[in-house]
Amino acid sequence: MPTPDGPAHPRATPGHRRAAGPEDPVWRAIRTKRVIRRFEDRPLDAVHLDRILHAGRRAASSKNLQRWEFIVCVDRAHLRELGQVGHAAGHLAGAAAGIALVTPDPRQPGTPLSVMFDLGQAAANMMLAAWELGVGSVPATVYEHDLARRLLGYPETHHCEYLLSFGYPADPAELRAPPRAGGRRPIADIVHRERWGRRDGPT
Ligand SMILES: Cc1cc2nc3c(=O)[nH]c(=O)nc-3n(C[C@H](O)[C@H](O)[C@H](O)COP(=O)(O)O)c2cc1C
Repeated sequence: MPTPDGPAHPRATPGHRRAAGPEDPVWRAIRTKRVIRRFEDRPLDAVHLDRILHAGRRAASSKNLQRWEFIVCVDRAHLRELGQVGHAAGHLAGAAAGIALVTPDPRQPGTPLSVMFDLGQAAANMMLAAWELGVGSVPATVYEHDLARRLLGYPETHHCEYLLSFGYPADPAELRAPPRAGGRRPIADIVHRERWGRRDGPT
């Protein structure tokens, strides 16, 4: 019986090494992760922060260029200031750590769009690895670019479009909550077969 997340009990088929189970750790993290905006007031375990940074470092990138730098911020006063860089960035003020994702300026002539694709992969790695450790996260989009540059000190050649807040959820039940009903578009709405407009289902 199909579910919004795919077949409920997928079976191993010839050519597959094994069945895809609902508790496979990568799949479980992808399926259950949600953003967390309220955090406990305690620092991240150093091992957890280290894992998160390495998860970003491990991301694939176009031509393996790895055009990212991560500025780790844990000072409470600094985090409060960073909470001002965007209209929805206030969660940084209460985070255990904020990580600014810095790239070469993507608007410079000749900079391929892949820089932001790559950064998204690094960010997703970080947030998924964090989730597995019981660490919640949420992006903050930068709108006040001059303020972000002043607070973080990256050079004119570089750009910060996003920071990520990390911390242990204020409400640990959020880590175990089932995926929100209607939280994502149905698969039939987003998948086309071979060509745009050819969808599954009754015609
Ligand atoms: C590129 C990007 C930018 C985002 N910027 C913000 C932000 O500035 N502030 C915020 O609170 N959430 C931000 N979010 C979080 C989204 O609102 C969140 O992922 C979405 O509502 C889905 O939430 P869920 O994963 O818990 O279902 C951002 C997410 C992405 C992917």
